[in-house]
Amino acid sequence: MKIGIGNDHVAVEYKKEIKKYIEEKYGYEVVNYGTDSTERFNYPVSGEAVANAVVNGEVDKGIVICGTGVGISLAANKVNGIRCVTCSEPYSALLSRQHNNTNMLAFGARVVGIELAKMIVDAWLSGEYEGGRHQVRIDMLKEIEEKLNTVQMYLENNYKDLTLQSYEDAKEVVERYEKSGLLKQKDMIQKKMAEFDAKLVHYGHTNVSEFLKERY
Ligand code: RB5
Repeated sequence: MKIGIGNDHVAVEYKKEIKKYIEEKYGYEVVNYGTDSTERFNYPVSGEAVANAVVNGEVDKGIVICGTGVGISLAANKVNGIRCVTCSEPYSALLSRQHNNTNMLAFGARVVGIELAKMIVDAWLSGEYEGGRHQVRIDMLKEIEEKLNTVQMYLENNYKDLTLQSYEDAKEVVERYEKSGLLKQKDMIQKKMAEFDAKLVHYGHTNVSEFLKERY
């Protein structure tokens, strides 16, 4: 078993102690993707690095630590295929393996004392995914990821060839959406469009999401 570990500047010593604990108690290899410096280090960097290592199969599971465990788990959960649980007690850690098949664990160095953290790690590592009725829900999580990917791909492909300089151009985009059926995912489209709009406005083009808001 190989575990990826990551942290920000708040959790350097804490991370080292958890790494050592896992190596000595379980004999697992623990690969460090976090910082070893107390210089300010933004948690999304190591949250994403560990998450990528998990989904790419470089490691089997990941553990990430920041001040609260929140920021770094949010970063990890943005990576497709990651189910990262933030825990401050062992019960949820165990159940998150048995029911949610979590592949990453997060906790906060400023929240959880080191001995309690070791108990959380033990509970999490010992938990076996039970499958069965839980698999339906895990599949539903995957579906959410796939919806987002479809929307993203659609937007990228359809914006590439358009110069949105007029109302007519914007109308054409809306019509493309209507045909695609993706307007059902209105919230996601609007969120994604805000990013595209920033690019378009930068080049002096029409702001499309404003147009969509008026129409829908
Ligand atoms: C760093 O000050 C802190 O914000 C970070 O470690 C973490 O708690 C964020 O969620």
